[in-house]
Amino acid sequence: MAAKGRRPGQALLGRIGLGLLGVAVLVQVLPIGQPRTNPPVLRDAPWPNAQARNLAAGACYACHSNQTRWPAYSYVAPVKWLVTSDVKRGREALNFSEWGQGEQEDEGADAVEDGSMPPLQYRLVHPEARLSPAERQTLIDALDAIEGRGGNAHGPGRGRGVGGG
Ligand code: HEC
Repeated sequence: MAAKGRRPGQALLGRIGLGLLGVAVLVQVLPIGQPRTNPPVLRDAPWPNAQARNLAAGACYACHSNQTRWPAYSYVAPVKWLVTSDVKRGREALNFSEWGQGEQEDEGADAVEDGSMPPLQYRLVHPEARLSPAERQTLIDALDAIEGRGGNAHGPGRGRGVGGG
């Protein structure tokens, strides 16, 4: 008895598997989520030096600029929904390509300092977003400088260290 044919449970599992596969394929063509767009760069943030800009380009521009390099996985549901939503919300909060318009663009230095940006899941997948302590400080200083919070909001303790080039 055990040797003959497949057990009913196996047939059921097979059907469920095929059903899931069908759903996974169908879901790719559903018009759900945000489109992948790269609008024109209106005003690039006034970075004080090239190094800071490069660091931001690697760690922030994917979600906070109009120069998103859309990775292959951003074309595959359900990951694409997460990615396009991140970019939409990220650009709304702070957009380095439309400087002066983001709702929270004065919080960049704080977000890097407290470790919330770039987000952990992004750092896991993107080595270029894992900054060394020195790189983080460079980026924080630069963000501080361009956030337009008045010249001496942080007092003398926080060196600006910009110059050179
Ligand atoms: C993977 C996408 C992604 C990357 C990379 C990323 N961010 Fe964000 N960021 C977001 C999203 C999404 C939000 C909106 C969060 C929300 O709405 O709750 C956000 C919000 C912010 C905010 C608003 C305040 C806050 O903390 O919510 C600041 C400031 C910010 N990001 C700065 C940065 C900086 C600086 C970098 C680079 C060091 C960076 N982000 C990298 C996705 C990203």
